[in-house]
Amino acid sequence: MPEKKDHDPAMSERSESSGASYITTPIYYINAQPHIGHAYTTMLTDAVARAQRLMGEDVFYLTGTDEHGQKVARAAQKANLDTKTFSDQVSIAFRQMCTDLSISNDDFIRTTEPRHYAAAQEIWNRVQKAGDIYKGEYEGWYCTVDEIFVPEAQLVDDKCPTCGSKVERLKEESYYFRLSKYQQKLLDWYRDHPDFVQPEFRLNEVKAFVEAGLQDLSISRTSFTWGIPVPGDPKHVMYVWFDALTNYLTALGFGSGTPEGEARIAKYWPTVTHFVGKEIVRQHALYWPAFLMSAGLTPPRRIIAHGFWMMGGAKMSKSLGNVARYQDYQQVFGLDGLRYFALREMPLGQDANFSDEAILTRFNADLANDLGNLVSRATTMVHRYRDGVIPEAPPERAQSLDRDLDAAVATAIDAVKANFQAYQVSLALQDAWTLVRQVNKYIVEREPWKLAKDAKNADVLNQTLYRGADALRVIAALVDPVMPDAAGRIRRMLGLGAESWRALRAGTLAPGTKLGDVEPLFPRLEKTVEELRTMSTGNESAPTPPPPIAAPSSPALAAAAPTDGHIAIDDFMKVELRVAKVLEAEAVPKSKKLIKLKVDAGTDQRTILAGIAEAYKPEELVGRTIVIVANLKPRPMMGMESQGMVLAASTETGPPSLVAVDPSLPAGARVR
Ligand code: MSP
Repeated sequence: MPEKKDHDPAMSERSESSGASYITTPIYYINAQPHIGHAYTTMLTDAVARAQRLMGEDVFYLTGTDEHGQKVARAAQKANLDTKTFSDQVSIAFRQMCTDLSISNDDFIRTTEPRHYAAAQEIWNRVQKAGDIYKGEYEGWYCTVDEIFVPEAQLVDDKCPTCGSKVERLKEESYYFRLSKYQQKLLDWYRDHPDFVQPEFRLNEVKAFVEAGLQDLSISRTSFTWGIPVPGDPKHVMYVWFDALTNYLTALGFGSGTPEGEARIAKYWPTVTHFVGKEIVRQHALYWPAFLMSAGLTPPRRIIAHGFWMMGGAKMSKSLGNVARYQDYQQVFGLDGLRYFALREMPLGQDANFSDEAILTRFNADLANDLGNLVSRATTMVHRYRDGVIPEAPPERAQSLDRDLDAAVATAIDAVKANFQAYQVSLALQDAWTLVRQVNKYIVEREPWKLAKDAKNADVLNQTLYRGADALRVIAALVDPVMPDAAGRIRRMLGLGAESWRALRAGTLAPGTKLGDVEPLFPRLEKTVEELRTMSTGNESAPTPPPPIAAPSSPALAAAAPTDGHIAIDDFMKVELRVAKVLEAEAVPKSKKLIKLKVDAGTDQRTILAGIAEAYKPEELVGRTIVIVANLKPRPMMGMESQGMVLAASTETGPPSLVAVDPSLPAGARVR
């Protein structure tokens, strides 16, 4: 793999337009179980990888575990396990995290694999050949939590300036890397690649650090053995960061000597985007390019630094003991709920607070309300008014409201794509939600339930039904990278398959498409924060409490529910109970029992025949707030059609008594 001496912009343009993209997460230390912090980087990169694939790029997406170093060796000792057994066990937890979170990684690398030993030793040999390694003695401070050497002048109250942990004094023989030799080359690189690190201020921090002068870097240890042996001098093991950073090349096949490896490297290097937490920018933006330059290789194209999830005012971390388990939140909010929250709540590069309040609020407001309602409205209307078949809606008969919606769809598609290209996933979700709200507003303004009453409105109703479903199709595609499961469920309700972003635009939904069954997408979580709080352990060693929420939103949980005389919550949720307001009531001629009600059901107005005439007079009913079954199949009664059912309680022989709810509730509110 030749070094690209020529770093002119045309070169980077070429590699960007080649359609190949390589995305990486940091490889995670295995001294502790994965938590929300690790889950976040993994979900973020997964969303970006999925979006790039939808845009037609050829993506190679890598994650894995960083298994060497003093920290891991000590954690194994503490667990009373030999280091390899310990590594195998914890590495599996990170692999499991990928499965749990539907991560679409193409490879999972472990630094204890033979392929990685070969790659790390090959890089070492190249760097040595370049004359950049010499033997010396390291005497100074070391932070085992961060696995970094800390110059005395940088200590804060005798502690590590990055994580605040106690540092240790080391004095041992060590190989050094001539980092100082690369000072000017690095500064030139930063100057020529202003997008090298994003956000930009992180690049400025690294630049300032380099400008202040670089010391040579200790790159081997002799006081323990848990690492990759230095070629030709096996009493030394490589410094864990030298070893770990090379994983990004190992996974492509570097050091394998195979033609497939060579081809993969040619395709994906240096077109790589490393996603990292802000605490490890220096290793990626300074050490890594210097090692690569020394080895005759081109530095990575881009480093994206994200912020920290904070909990209780501090960075969520195992060493502080304030971690949240991703599994607990996934159990309550479902995978889509967790992925949506994490990626929406944290703007790229900034810190964000992880709290039960925040995730509950977003779940109910953005998912249950905005998106959930839209899905239910747009699909139910087609079932109700057009037998579940998408009608024709000729563009020439579109009105300005329809054309405005098409324009909003086009704007959202462009904005979401542009934000994904800039790795701004939170902003991309904001754009998608702008569209969700616009479509909801469009449906409300059109009042299809009124249009449906008069056949002469058929054209406008068709336009409305078509556009509601068509926009929902686009929304499913736009949320797909973040919520692949929900996107699939929406598409099933629309009777559609997966769709790429390449030709995504308004108006391509085929008339005649038969919709699938409507199912609740995100049932509202009617729990208080206090009830949820019982799940937030803040302590990794605490036992996992049982899920506090009785409303599993994932089909997998529902499937696991007992069936012996009980129904699963999802079965119950199929019955759409809603608050309705009685607008008109009149007796049904020739019937002792029936009263004909006209009710406002929130999304529509409808006629329901209720068997309550023995207990109520029509005039007492007008203005009442009642509960109806809103998704009951309409049925003919006494020459009319009853579009739902009113809920009433009664004993075997007594008169019916209407189920009452607080009259301040709006029509359409879900009862569950
Ligand atoms: N092993 C090194 C990385 C080597 S990469 C060649 C390492 N591992 S780590 O297990 O400590 O993981 C660090 C990464 O986990 C962070 O960079 C970040 O991606 C993620 N996070 C861990 N805690 C986090 C938060 N509290 N908030 C957000 N992300 C965090 O460093």
